[in-house]
Amino acid sequence: MVWLRLAVLVPRKSSFGPILKESKREMAREKCVLAYSGGMDSTISVVWIQEQYDMDVVTLTVDLGAGPEIVGVRERALQAGAVDSLVWDVRDEFVNEYVFPGLKAGAMYEGVYALSTALGRPLMAKKLVEAARQVGAAAVAHGCTGKGNDQVRFDSGIMTLAAHGDPLRIIAPAREWGMTRDEEKLYAAKAGLKLREVGSDRRVYSIDRNLWGQAIEGEDLEDTWVEPPEDAYSWTKPIAETPDQPVEVSIGFEKGTPVSIDGAAMPGVKLIDILNDMAGEHGVGRIDHLENRLVGIKSREVYETPAAIVLHTAIRALETSTMSREQQRVKATLSQIYADMVYDGRWFTELRTNIAAFMDSVHEYSTGDVRVRLHKGSCVVVGRRSPYSLYDFDLATYSTTDSFDHESATGFIDIYSLPARTQAKNQTYRDAR
Ligand code: ARG
Repeated sequence: MVWLRLAVLVPRKSSFGPILKESKREMAREKCVLAYSGGMDSTISVVWIQEQYDMDVVTLTVDLGAGPEIVGVRERALQAGAVDSLVWDVRDEFVNEYVFPGLKAGAMYEGVYALSTALGRPLMAKKLVEAARQVGAAAVAHGCTGKGNDQVRFDSGIMTLAAHGDPLRIIAPAREWGMTRDEEKLYAAKAGLKLREVGSDRRVYSIDRNLWGQAIEGEDLEDTWVEPPEDAYSWTKPIAETPDQPVEVSIGFEKGTPVSIDGAAMPGVKLIDILNDMAGEHGVGRIDHLENRLVGIKSREVYETPAAIVLHTAIRALETSTMSREQQRVKATLSQIYADMVYDGRWFTELRTNIAAFMDSVHEYSTGDVRVRLHKGSCVVVGRRSPYSLYDFDLATYSTTDSFDHESATGFIDIYSLPARTQAKNQTYRDAR
């Protein structure tokens, strides 16, 4: 920072001796903020960007709740030659501004994928731009390849958020370098990098995780006929090892946001952590999906999203009690659009914001509790209640307290069936007399 300011103030041709030489050297190298996970690709990228682009690399590790992989990340980045390593804990922001809005929107891509990775990317893009502005970087970099959805999410997010101010270049080493897995390992060895993955002959899946779930790809999963091997999973138990006794858990919601477990209020991050553990223990949350990527490829995706399954199941149950039929129908239509938009990298758009506003509004009365039972891989709703429930016992009951006016039902049906009868008489059954 100091050198930058110096260099601006000092005219090019003055002779400030060693100080200026130093400042010029610093000046010459632009900075790039690299999204850094600590894995092999991202560690190689630290070296590669310095080499290929002659830039200083500042790594940014955005903690979205991926757990232990964050340990030692700073040291690894610096060891690989990063000039600085930022580690930002954004778990609360992730949950409150991305995960829970997605939950309220019922955002399940193709009906099964709770969008864990897809919801994380826009926030990472946002933080990359923030960090770049903070350190005065000319570029940002991410580790996506040229085959996936994530490059679209990163690039569109970054370009959208950086639309104002100095232009920000985007570097995507893994999309550009064209190295095979083995060449990458060779490159790492030559650069003297110590990587966890190198040398191990265990299956190395491509995993992306955050607190909302983990996505697992590659290795044996690429054969769609092969059942995912047990070592692909790490958050959920195989059914044979889950407890024989079911467990019941009650989730409290306020206006569509989960706020408590079994009556104990807690922040979202903790609530999700607890549900991941509880549901994972009972084998809940394994998804094996053949997915339509935005870039046109069908890919086999395995997910572990225990808390997401429990919460989506619970909120849907609450909605059946607190929303009218028409609200449910319109919401379902918008849910699908919203899910596609999140998947397709359209988070930072007016339309996504518009639909989110509808979701906030439609959940005005989604306050109450849902009880679910977790057992042998299933998550089943066993009870729901709300002070705003539209379920009226006296209207629904078949007992003597029944308050429904049976006589007006005949008048209702008379009017209701009028168009069908008219059409039958004049068209469909005209000749059936
Ligand atoms: N298919 C998912 C998505 O597009 C997950 C991709 C995550 N990447 C991975 N390396 N497993 O959101």
